[in-house]
Amino acid sequence: MAIQIDGGKKVSGSLVIQGSKNAVLPIMAASVLGAGTTVIENCPDIFDVHAMSDVLRSIGASVNYRNHTLTICSSHIKKTAIEEKSVGEIRASILLLGSVLARLGSVSICYPGGCSIGSRPIDFHLRAFRKMGAQVNEEKDRIDCLAKKRLTGTTISLPFPSVGATENIILTSVLAEGETVLLGAAMEPEITELCRFLRKMGAQITGEGTDTLRVCGVKELKSVRWGLCADRIVFLTWAMLTAGCGGEAELFMKETIPCAEKQVLEQLGCMIEREGRRICLSQKHVPRPIRYLKTQPYPGYPTDGQSLIMPVLCKGNGVSTIEEGIFENRFRMIRQLKKMGANIDYVCNHARITGVTKLHGALVQADDLRSGAGLLIGGAMAEGRTTITKEHFINRGYENVTGQLQALGILAEEV
Ligand code: UD1
Repeated sequence: MAIQIDGGKKVSGSLVIQGSKNAVLPIMAASVLGAGTTVIENCPDIFDVHAMSDVLRSIGASVNYRNHTLTICSSHIKKTAIEEKSVGEIRASILLLGSVLARLGSVSICYPGGCSIGSRPIDFHLRAFRKMGAQVNEEKDRIDCLAKKRLTGTTISLPFPSVGATENIILTSVLAEGETVLLGAAMEPEITELCRFLRKMGAQITGEGTDTLRVCGVKELKSVRWGLCADRIVFLTWAMLTAGCGGEAELFMKETIPCAEKQVLEQLGCMIEREGRRICLSQKHVPRPIRYLKTQPYPGYPTDGQSLIMPVLCKGNGVSTIEEGIFENRFRMIRQLKKMGANIDYVCNHARITGVTKLHGALVQADDLRSGAGLLIGGAMAEGRTTITKEHFINRGYENVTGQLQALGILAEEV
């Protein structure tokens, strides 16, 4: 299957921002920490949620998805070996290392999959588990972790604020003996969401949203019902679509727009007005260039948003520079944008984008989830027809993507 877009139209329409992929996946991993039932409302209907559900079923959980409500019952979890097939499909399955280890005292998993946006090591995660008293054995393709007794809280310092490592350390420490202090923690809103969720389960955590987290281990956690936050990267996708195509979009979410994203949208010339949950975005001109933008850990501009702004800058009224500060393979989409007439040079992790007056439709391919989303934006901005193959990457994180594009007035269909 592919997505076909007839571009060149202005954005016009409204939609409600779906629930957050990067928040729901760690919450799903957290659900196995207790022996009760977790109900997640506003859960997005995306491939990654269903793949993670399969991983949870494979270790004994019962998982049911209906009308955007995901119910996970983890009372019968007993399998500690996580199968290769499911893990290969989804990167977030690595978070089960922490939660299954904490719940059952051992876990065995093969190296995880996900988007190939650069080397994605997990040394910080494993070092922390060892420091908490686990034996960690790394074989060719597998990782085995064993805790002979309850893991012990300790002070852990991260050399870089890794999102995944922060989440895994939180998951492991909520059931550990004593206090864990995590220094240099990642501060992403999805981590705050995970901490709030765990606190509702009965965990004792403070400091979320800062770089120092304190977790006091408890013996057990209870069942919870949780209303999931909106996806800030999906919001950014449709905001960038508006910034690139011009026109007006009405997007609904209750969460605030992170400062860095808001600032960048305004620099592009996009007007943002907010009234309660309704956010009105409008772009009346050709996008303005951005002299220099570097992707950084939160609260900086997100790496996931790099592929989303790149097509917008391709039609910018001047020269822009982007430095990718997190993942090294995130410039692969440049090759695809060039097929559409973009003028981009890059060396290592710096890209120099010279705005052109027109992009034209082309046959392009998604290389990963966010580059696929970036090509949707490029396709909508280009004149003529764009066909995006390897659509499955986009379905990992976007629900009914052609439907969402149509709701914003873009001519898109699956072919
Ligand atoms: C998460 C997000 C992803 C986002 C990324 C950066 C999910 C499911 N994925 O990915 O969408 O793009 O954060 O915000 O939420 N690193 C190490 N050793 C480690 C761990 C990380 O060197 O043990 C390095 C990585 O190579 C990378 C950087 O730290 O350069 C950031 O990685 P990390 O924040 O862990 O990204 P993910 O959690 O994989």
